Amino acid sequence: MLTVNMNVNGKPVSGEIEHRTLLVQFLRENLRLTGTHVGCDTSQCGACVVHVNGVSIKSCTILAVQADGAEVTTIEGLADRGELHPMQQAFMDNHGLQCGFCTPGMVMSAIDIVNRNGSDVDEPTVRKELEGNICRCTGYQSIVDAVADGSRLWLLRVLLAEHLLHRRAVLLLLQHAIHLGVSPLGCPAPRGCPSRLALAIGDSMKAQYPDLPIDRSMLAACAICHDVGKPFEFDPENQQRW
Ligand code: FES
Ligand code: FES
Repeated sequence: MLTVNMNVNGKPVSGEIEHRTLLVQFLRENLRLTGTHVGCDTSQCGACVVHVNGVSIKSCTILAVQADGAEVTTIEGLADRGELHPMQQAFMDNHGLQCGFCTPGMVMSAIDIVNRNGSDVDEPTVRKELEGNICRCTGYQSIVDAVADGSRLWLLRVLLAEHLLHRRAVLLLLQHAIHLGVSPLGCPAPRGCPSRLALAIGDSMKAQYPDLPIDRSMLAACAICHDVGKPFEFDPENQQRW
């Protein structure tokens, strides 16, 4: 037996394990973090993907002792005070799951894909990068849509947070974005850009909640789109679904 120590989902943990204990076993059996699934045990399905020091890894492929001293994040560590990670929210919104068995691994892989490729990652790249994650239910299109959607929601959250909006305002804006599920017409991005969306949502929210501590200048600072910062009209008659 040996002792391992690591940070899992931001908390220090330790355990007495056999040398042969896999990381996935340690997470599931010692820590009871059963959101990380075991679908094959032969490194093929991706149901066991977690992040080790910020990088996705199939936790059935490494020993727990190899993660000694590491920062490990599992699906249970993504939500923040009850608020889903944007990628989790996007999987829910896009029906990116049926039985849900592959979903924790899909979400963890999707976050790593966006981390490495940026929020404008294209569909062929998403499909190629998800080759190591197998789903028996969905046919993949809704999963690919969820990854694209999640990357946009994620960027929107980062943009808004970076502009030092009041936390309550950020949450309301995001809830509203999810509720509306629209992108303003006229945006050159195929499915809408987060900054323009933030402007549209900000206008709408301001009308609904006049006391929100936001104004357009806080939202109009994204470098992605050249038109950002210019006034534009949000036409509620011509909303497009994402
Ligand atoms: Fe790890 Fe299938 S259980 S890849
Ligand atoms: Fe069932 Fe993917 S949702 S295996």
